[in-house]
Amino acid sequence: MTGSPDAAGAAATGAADGVALGSVAAEGAAAGSAAAAARARRPVVVLVGPPGSGKTTVGRLLARRLDVAFRDTDVDVEARAGRSVADIFVELGEEHFRTLEQEAVAHALAEHDGVLALGGGAVLDEATRRSLRGHTVVHLDVGVHDAVARVGLARDRPLLVEGPRTRIAAMLRARAPLYAEVASAVVGTVGHTPEEVVGLVEKLLVDHRHHDHVVASPAGRLPGPLVRP
Ligand code: S3P
Repeated sequence: MTGSPDAAGAAATGAADGVALGSVAAEGAAAGSAAAAARARRPVVVLVGPPGSGKTTVGRLLARRLDVAFRDTDVDVEARAGRSVADIFVELGEEHFRTLEQEAVAHALAEHDGVLALGGGAVLDEATRRSLRGHTVVHLDVGVHDAVARVGLARDRPLLVEGPRTRIAAMLRARAPLYAEVASAVVGTVGHTPEEVVGLVEKLLVDHRHHDHVVASPAGRLPGPLVRP
């Protein structure tokens, strides 16, 4: 990146001092390569959607297909807190969970270069929605009926323990604009097996790759319409 206009400008500014010039140029190069490394380390795709949309099931299968790692921010939160999501809700409260979740998402977006699934409520946080800009975010869409059927008794989903149908319906209504805000693309899951949904997401990634003539690289960034500006 030493040839970039910014680096050239910085070098010109420091031209009176040879040492400074050298270090400015070196810093420019280091910053450039650090920025390039940071850019390279980003999730292939981030999956968002309500509970029961299949983020974990689809995410695991998709990661296997793409030969990359799968990461789930709920698991990261549990590891950090040393207890289950359900216990965090009961013992520490939802607000505490949301704080841990926001941190977990920020870390995962910066570190993970495979498939990343976010907890269904991660998009409630404004900073998280902002941090998703520039990422390939796929919203796995689901209706009330299928979501309820998939979460079943929801013993480990604290927000759904009482009246899953009513809670999910309210959740879908309230969160629809938030998923729409962060998503680069929406994939409907109703009537599809997890394998079919994986195929749809994969097709989206592959079609997009050809469209933009991007070299196939599961760990690479997919610029263009699939990446939310
Ligand atoms: C939540 C969804 C859960 C988990 C927590 C809160 C939500 O993740 O993060 O129970 O607010 O929708 P899943 O979407 O994986 O169930």
